[in-house]
Amino acid sequence: MFSLSHLRLLCEERKIPLISQATENFLWEILQKYKPKICLEIGGAVWYSAIFTAGLVRQRWGQVYSFEVSHPAYLEWLIHIRESWLGNITSYPWDCRQWPIKKLLPPKRRTSPKKADFVFIDGQKSQYAEYLEIIETLISDTTILVLDDVIKYHNKLSTVYRFLEKKQMNYEVRQLEADDGVMTMGL
Ligand SMILES: C[S@@+](CC[C@H](N)C(=O)[O-])C[C@H]1O[C@@H](n2cnc3c(N)ncnc32)[C@H](O)[C@@H]1O
Repeated sequence: MFSLSHLRLLCEERKIPLISQATENFLWEILQKYKPKICLEIGGAVWYSAIFTAGLVRQRWGQVYSFEVSHPAYLEWLIHIRESWLGNITSYPWDCRQWPIKKLLPPKRRTSPKKADFVFIDGQKSQYAEYLEIIETLISDTTILVLDDVIKYHNKLSTVYRFLEKKQMNYEVRQLEADDGVMTMGL
């Protein structure tokens, strides 16, 4: 039977990157508190964080859209998702920057475009600013954004800080463990 804690152990043994336990606990708190439905993730790896998110939002018909550029990781995903019995993850085995991400949430006829309620960014740190740029049309004032590993990789994020300043976006950096933490917006 599928278990998230078993998947975490497998990832740790095989040195597959995944969210830290501290980030997982933080995501649990905000997903429970804010109850997002449309969730977007950039950087799925073997989709540990996507499966975790999907499990929590499933009860209110929430959906997770997750991008992962690595094809071997995508193939692993197919196994994990079959075992987890979750039907609310749509996975995209592509570089999110090469995909028309604006079309991800098509508007219903004559209504305004759908927006993501929650975005989790955990791809390549030096690309974070590009991700923020491409998701701009998918977010609104009420979208919650979480960017992982922003303390450990602070030196790769200068373009992110420039982007946030240019767009005058408010953010908060939260230290979740001794050497790392997340950036949040919309909380
Ligand atoms: C830290 S891992 C993600 C871990 C995952 N969030 C989890 O906790 O299970 C980062 C992943 O981002 C992927 N990635 C890097 N650049 C990407 C891009 N431009 N588009 C999609 N995925 C990307 C990498 O292949 C890698 O698997």
